[in-house]
Amino acid sequence: MERKMIIAKKLFTLLAKEELKDGLEVFLEGWVRGNRDNGSIGFIEFNDGTTFKNIQLVYTSENPNYNNISHIKYASAISVKGKIKLTPTNKQPFEISVDEISLLGDVADDYPLQKKRHSFEFLRDIAYLRPRANTFNALFRVRNALAFAIHKFFQERGFMYVHTPIITTNDAEGAGQSFKVVEDLKHPNDFFNASASLTVSGQLHVEPFALAFRDTYTFGPTFRAEHSNTSRHASEFWMIEPEIAFADLEDDMVLIEEFIKYIISYVLDNCPDEMNFFNTMIEKGVLEKMKHIVNSKFKVMTYTEGVELLKKAVEEGHKFEYNNIEWGMDLQSEHERYLTEVIAKGPMFLIDYPKEIKSFYMKLNPDNKTVAACDLLVPGVGEICGGSQREEDYDKLKERMIAQGNVEILDWYLNLRKYGGCIHSGFGLGFDRLLMYMTGLSNIRDVQPYPRCPGSIKY
Ligand code: 4AD
Ligand code: MG
Repeated sequence: MERKMIIAKKLFTLLAKEELKDGLEVFLEGWVRGNRDNGSIGFIEFNDGTTFKNIQLVYTSENPNYNNISHIKYASAISVKGKIKLTPTNKQPFEISVDEISLLGDVADDYPLQKKRHSFEFLRDIAYLRPRANTFNALFRVRNALAFAIHKFFQERGFMYVHTPIITTNDAEGAGQSFKVVEDLKHPNDFFNASASLTVSGQLHVEPFALAFRDTYTFGPTFRAEHSNTSRHASEFWMIEPEIAFADLEDDMVLIEEFIKYIISYVLDNCPDEMNFFNTMIEKGVLEKMKHIVNSKFKVMTYTEGVELLKKAVEEGHKFEYNNIEWGMDLQSEHERYLTEVIAKGPMFLIDYPKEIKSFYMKLNPDNKTVAACDLLVPGVGEICGGSQREEDYDKLKERMIAQGNVEILDWYLNLRKYGGCIHSGFGLGFDRLLMYMTGLSNIRDVQPYPRCPGSIKY
């Protein structure tokens, strides 16, 4: 077939074309997602990867190759030459009546991905094939659209995108959960002449840019050596971290809310087929839930109020696994979920946490006990976003850094407070957690192309 001679080669372009006419000749390359025939007419569900929905290819026994075509196996790679037939009353706007089909890549009998429902565990084990399965096809399309929407949101508002380093000497969160980077195990610090690790957050590296460009963001992979093997923790995940100057916690929360609503709306508008799929196959009602988010106001509650409500719940007989609620404790995910699911029944900010359980860089509140921090909690997932106003007072920050033991390695970070510093704030949104929330997929391993978790790194 004269591959180069035909105008449109991708379904994506064909579907976007406004004037499609009956009889238009097309040439396409893609994969068989189903093939059935009754001896005189046959149908191939065809997908070239550029759209979520399949297109139907129709072949008849008038085709001299009918018998060969009817034996083309599920998942084979093929090329097809045919003509558009408009089908305005069907799910898809057209089908293709086949003139010729060539088999480009046959499928061996041990192909593990069959045309049936497989368990998510099984699909994780064949991560190199699962992008072909409907759920993952939909998921990775949404993941792509969401990433684009993030850049679109910030670029439309004049935010500067900054590439913060992956290899670093700082442990931004101070939680001791970073992976070491060594070239020679026997001399771990020789390569950089310093102890290096993979970044847990780009925040400390993006703050200097906010103090030069005002509104900035970084969006990239981050790494955490957390041993907690849960469905919401990955060792490698993507985080969006905006940092804004001349902005306090209130401004930060306004940005978070506007940002999340914008990117969800973008996906609702641009991935309707995929979102419908999640709504029918993964979580009934997820579509309504997302539409509701876009139109609702996020609730706000202080940590202190939250703890009171949790205590009250326990008094009234609610059983948490960790039932000993007291002010100062780090909330467990079950507590966060109670607050967002039972109390707020939607997204909620929890603010003003005890300073002892939060990172050193957060601004101390006038009560000297709490810091100007906010976590955004959502039903089903818990924390998807954590932000704060940064401590801009040189002496107060220095005191916390001495206690943390990082004042030497991060002297430059402290210096920002004496070289034209100003109030500034920022947050980190867990990209993969947001995807879980938006699709209803309940395991972080199922929203990442190649998940890395404790004890598992097959691909
Ligand atoms: O709350 P975290 O630790 O905040 C920071 O890293 C700040 N430096 C952000 C900032 O202010 N610039 O992480 C932010 C978010 C969490 O709310 C969560 O959604 C996600 O990152 N996250 C994880 N996602 C998947 N797997 C993990 N192990 C995660 N740890 C955090
Ligand atoms: Mg956090």
